[in-house]
Formats: sequence, C-alpha cells, structure tokens
Amino acid sequence: MEVKRIGVVGAGQMGSGIAQVAASAGYEVVLVDVAESFLERGLAAIRRSLGKFLEKGKITQEAHDEALGRIRTSLSLEDLKDADLIVEAIVEDEGEKRRLFERLGALAKPEAILASNTSSIPITALARYSGRPERFIGMHFFNPVPLMQLVEVIRGELTSEATRDVVVEVARRMGKTPLEVQDYPGFISNRLLMPMINEAIEALREGVASKEAIDGIMRLGMNHPMGPLELADFIGLDTCLAIMEVLHRGFGDDKYRPSPLLRRMVQAGLLGRKVGRGFYIYDEKGNKVG
Ligand code: NAI
Repeated sequence: MEVKRIGVVGAGQMGSGIAQVAASAGYEVVLVDVAESFLERGLAAIRRSLGKFLEKGKITQEAHDEALGRIRTSLSLEDLKDADLIVEAIVEDEGEKRRLFERLGALAKPEAILASNTSSIPITALARYSGRPERFIGMHFFNPVPLMQLVEVIRGELTSEATRDVVVEVARRMGKTPLEVQDYPGFISNRLLMPMINEAIEALREGVASKEAIDGIMRLGMNHPMGPLELADFIGLDTCLAIMEVLHRGFGDDKYRPSPLLRRMVQAGLLGRKVGRGFYIYDEKGNKVG
C-alpha cells in the first residue's frame, strides 16, 4: 500500500511538527483540531520552523512554499476520510484517545492505517478501540519533531507486519530513523527518561539542590543537551504526569510513583513552556526568561 495522504489529529506541539515533516516529505496533509485557535497556533509553529530552515539555508524557498501548500487544516474528522495514514497526537488521556479512535475506526477508509503518537498508553488497547487492530500502530515522534531523528515504532499485539512495513517506510521518507520496540508501559524512551525526570523533581522538592544546579549537573556532567527540569518544561508537565501514572499503574512498582510536586504543579496549571511557566518562565516565543 502506498501512502499519499496523511491525516494528523491534534495541532499542538507534536501534531504540528508531524504535519510539517509529513508535508516536507511530499505527503498531502490534513491537520485537525477542535478549535480554530489551536489550528492557527499549530500553523504559526509550522511557519516559524520552516522559516528557520529557510534562513539557515537547509531548505529552498520552493521547498518551503510547497510544504506549506500541502497542509490543509480542518475542524472536522470527516475530512480524514481519504487519508491513507492517520497519526493521532491529542492529549495524553486514554479516555480521550479511546473516543477519538472509535470514531476514526468507523470513518477512515478500510485500508487506512491508524497510528498513535502516545508517549505511554498501551498501543494494544488503543488498537482495540479502533476496531482495526491489524492496521494500528504506535508511531512515537520526539520533540521538536522537525529536528529529532527518532521515531519509536510500537507494534501492538495484533499489528500486522504489513502495517509495520508501511509505517517504517513513511518514517524513513520523513528523514527519520525508526526503531522498533514492544508494547510495554512507556516503551523504551519514556520508561528510561521519565523516572529520571521524576527523580529530579523529587530532588528539587527535597531541597537537595536548586533547579539551576540540578539541570546544570546533568548538562555539564552527563553531557545532556537539556537538564531534566528544563526538559520536563519542554515536554509539558501534564504529559510527564500522565506518563508517570501509566508507568506506575502498568508496573505496579512504587519507584514509578509521580512526585507530589509534579502533581501540584499540574494542578496549578504550571504546565511548562507551552503555557509560559513551569519550573522556569518563558516568553511568547518559548524562550526562557527566568
Ligand atoms: P499539546 O497539549 O501541545 O497538544 C494537544 C492538542 O490536541 C491540542 O491542540 C488540543 O486542542 C488537541 N486535542 C485535544 N483533544 C482533541 C480531540 N479530541 N480532537 C482533536 N484535537 C484534540 O500536546 P503535545 O505535547 O503535542 O502531545 C500530544 C501527544 O503527543 C500526547 O499523546 C503526548 O503524550 C505525545 N507526545 C508528546 C511529546 C512531548 O514532548 N510533548 C513527545 C512525544 C509524544
């Protein structure tokens, strides 16, 4: 099966990036969200990112214009009826994703593949909600999507090899490196990353070091490009909490218990860079200012 049209549901940090790399790879893209303002914000992020590539000479003016020209936005899932592949990137909440995949499973054309960009929710469960478990797969991109090389490909219990092959091919055409993992909580990326972030938050809560020292130690001592608290802000604290809860439930081990400070910050709406404040403070362009 050849993929020509890709639908992306959710125009947030991840969905807008996925739409951008899909369009840059030559696919026709329909980007769907629930409100015009979210679509506008997503498109603005795509324009900014493509603009930077153009400025740096990484793409031509023509490639820039063509990529933008291939992206349509919509408030209706009905506009995904013709898509060959639909990638979901909505909020990290199993109930929300379930409702969406029940609808997508019913309206997408029978041969279409459905993929989730979930960070941690079991692919096998989402596959079941979609009613087409053979044509369902995890396609886990990394933030910021236009810059990060990896796509973690997660096969559910019933995902077919043909589906895996199509998605691997699409990821490669987007210029990414797909790596396959089994469907266990947090897959590999977040099973390793999130407990580290959670532990950094616990260390901050206990007063072991300041946020600047915690981040500096991991940047300078471990050569991480970002410290764990900066990275948590970048990912979104709501997403971090949701992933820790999946790990905690999935493994039943207390070592995955979400930090109470993480929980409190999410309750306060301090979700990180996307809202302007988390562990640090950010301006409208997302630059750290405090
Ligand atoms: P976000 O909060 O930036 O964007 C989510 C978007 O989905 C919002 O625009 C929201 O309006 C929209 N949305 C919510 N419900 C919807 C629905 N029913 N239909 C259509 N649109 C809907 O979140 P972000 O960071 O883009 O995360 C999205 C997904 O990607 C989550 O599953 C997350 O776990 C995953 N992910 C996030 C990463 C990160 O670093 N933030 C990395 C890899 C995966």
